Amino acid sequence: MRNATARALLAEIEAYLVRTGATPTKLGLAAVNDGHLVANLRKGHSITLKTADKVRAYLSRAGRSPQGRHPEPGLHAVSHAEIAGAAGGGRAAHRGIDRRIDGRIDGRIDRCVDWRIVLVIGGGIAAYKCLDLIRRLRERLAVEVLTVMTRAAQEFVTPLSVGALSNAPVSTELFDLDAEREIGHIRLARDTDLVVVAPATADLIARMAGGHADDLATSLLLATDRPVLVAPAMNPHMWLAPATRRNVALLAADGIHFVGPETGEMAERGEAGPGRLAEVPQIVDAIEDLLGLAGGAHAAEGPLAGRHVLVTSGPTHEPIDPVRYIANRSSGKQGAAIAAEARRLGARVTLVTGPVSAAPPAGVDAVEVETAVEMLGAVRAALPADIAVFAAAVADWRVAHAAPQKLKKREAAREAPRLELVENPDILKTVAGLPPGERPPLVVGFAAETESVVDNARAKRKAKGADWIVANDVSPATGVMGGDRNTVHLVTPEGVESWPELDKAEVARRLFERAAYWLAVNTASA
Ligand SMILES: Cc1cc2nc3c(=O)[nH]c(=O)nc-3n(C[C@H](O)[C@H](O)[C@H](O)COP(=O)(O)O)c2cc1C
Repeated sequence: MRNATARALLAEIEAYLVRTGATPTKLGLAAVNDGHLVANLRKGHSITLKTADKVRAYLSRAGRSPQGRHPEPGLHAVSHAEIAGAAGGGRAAHRGIDRRIDGRIDGRIDRCVDWRIVLVIGGGIAAYKCLDLIRRLRERLAVEVLTVMTRAAQEFVTPLSVGALSNAPVSTELFDLDAEREIGHIRLARDTDLVVVAPATADLIARMAGGHADDLATSLLLATDRPVLVAPAMNPHMWLAPATRRNVALLAADGIHFVGPETGEMAERGEAGPGRLAEVPQIVDAIEDLLGLAGGAHAAEGPLAGRHVLVTSGPTHEPIDPVRYIANRSSGKQGAAIAAEARRLGARVTLVTGPVSAAPPAGVDAVEVETAVEMLGAVRAALPADIAVFAAAVADWRVAHAAPQKLKKREAAREAPRLELVENPDILKTVAGLPPGERPPLVVGFAAETESVVDNARAKRKAKGADWIVANDVSPATGVMGGDRNTVHLVTPEGVESWPELDKAEVARRLFERAAYWLAVNTASA
């Protein structure tokens, strides 16, 4: 049976032959018998890594020779016709070759040439959902899905079902003699466009965060230099456990992408909270985003296609000295949910975020800042935008002169240092007050209040010149700051809509339902 290396190499050779007009027997691979090599590859034979590397080195050298028409054969764009025609319809799999989307039907990607995903399946109750994920990935994106199952995953779904749906080999063992003749775990890690972990158990997340490599899944995750998308699924107590929080934060800081988890009912009776695997279409969306396909697929479809949405989120940190700062309890969850919703509706999204622990949603351009002054700078740089939503809890004041060194406690003086505060720039008011053309057509502010919520929001809307204000009660008893739910009032020139307590994602959905409609009625798309 042809191995992945052979398939990849054949695609490169076929593309090379098409490009140069050479025939297989005249390939000129001094060290190997060219004609036989190509014939055998076409028949589906395997090849060793060593031979493949030798051939690649030759192709690379030949491509740089005066006869070569392309300077970087491994990197040049190969059309679908070239690959499909020359390779008898086989899909090129070498990661260096430019990928093409073959066609679209109704804005949907019809077929992606040449993408490969490695799906790592963890041992959780949601493992059965990976079958639907594989089916959708193959149907919607036509990507090749190679699967790796942990030992625990095989307790929940069988490699047979996974292999039948993926129509590709399922890897389960690190110490696999056949695969490891070609250092299979490294090949799996590298010869792919994206690694997806779904469902990601608490255990797998912990082992990833700890840099473990004690099975095939963790070895390839440690070895990969490709983007990694993690879809966690576990009991809410496991998800909220300090150890899991730390592990997720570590992985996010390492650049690992997350999708979900969702909040809701768990498989265990009577259990509810955050920890449900993200819905399969949401995982597919995140995969598309990471593969850079969403710009085509969603943007072509969504009501905000062609629009730019700017969102601010999270707290700001205003330094007192190099180690201390003034902050607030904002978690950035509402802003992130708004950014994700705008992205889902097809917008290009810039999320300017203060320091938060959660990773930004997939597919948004995240700009990380610390202070209010930095946030204003990032907002200005991100303009123009069609909609600007200011959900960040920006500090009203900053310390006038942050100390260059850590402030010392002076026992003798028995006097606490006095901090002189100065007002921070008002980002909402600044942007809402920009002249037409520079001002986003729809400017939405958030008002975090602890009393007279609606009255204060009405006054704020006028004082700041915002179009809409989303007012929420952030008194400690409400649990809004840092929580997953929110009770808001939408204050517009037309009046006040009071919504019931909702998930922050649902608040985002309702807000953007109205925002997309407003934009469609009041402005023309670019
Ligand atoms: C019935 C059952 C369901 C489980 N569901 C989950 C789950 O949804 N999420 C999770 O993190 N662990 C779950 N576990 C625990 C994992 O299976 C266990 O931590 C295992 O070591 C994970 O291995 P892996 O990370 O290598 O896949 C479950 C265990 C059992 C027995």
